[in-house]
Amino acid sequence: MQRGVELGRFITFEGGEGSGKSTQAGILANRLARAGRPVFATREPGGSPAAEEIREALLSGKVWQFGPFAEAVMFSVARADHIDYAIREALQQGKWVVCDRFIDSTRAYQGATAGVPRSLISALERITVGALSPDITFILDIPAQEGLARAHERAEGTTPDRFEGQELMLHERVRRAFLDIAEEEPERCIVVDASQPEAMVAEDVWEAVLQRLNP
Ligand code: TMP
Repeated sequence: MQRGVELGRFITFEGGEGSGKSTQAGILANRLARAGRPVFATREPGGSPAAEEIREALLSGKVWQFGPFAEAVMFSVARADHIDYAIREALQQGKWVVCDRFIDSTRAYQGATAGVPRSLISALERITVGALSPDITFILDIPAQEGLARAHERAEGTTPDRFEGQELMLHERVRRAFLDIAEEEPERCIVVDASQPEAMVAEDVWEAVLQRLNP
């Protein structure tokens, strides 16, 4: 995080389908609030009124027809709005911002997996995020098969369908991409074994927050 201007703390959660990152982001936000810290819990894509509208366009697949670079741009436009109209103000007010997905999702999905060149992803980051960086990024790591099975169960109570093979490969790539990011930036990223029971994952997250940020 850019020190001096923002007084709060910035924590992001990343991971593939069924990794439980949204649940863990929620648990951490509650825990921080119980510890008496002002919290702003948010998510991407979205988190501000305009970015939530862009979220709809992105998740409905409307942007997909224009290709992965267009998607990367739109995720970035949403992110810029989210920072300008929500995150920065919260940090300036001394809040603990807990965000479900951030820059690493664009790196992993549009970059490493969909093939948008790293130089373009980095350029988008420089424009939209600048020097703002999370204090901690939790990478919730789970084997693709396990994560997908969880996601399918949650979605419709069924097991993975005939597209499983293709889906699996894609999700394995996303997983690898997140692990590569963690290796490149160990001072920011913490990999958590998300195949553990939910309560144990939450303990790992809380321990790391206590150690690094002492709330
Ligand atoms: P969710 O799984 O947290 O609901 O995220 C919505 C989807 O958006 C998920 O499939 C990952 C995708 N996504 C990207 O592809 N790039 C991004 O930059 C972000 C924030 C999300």
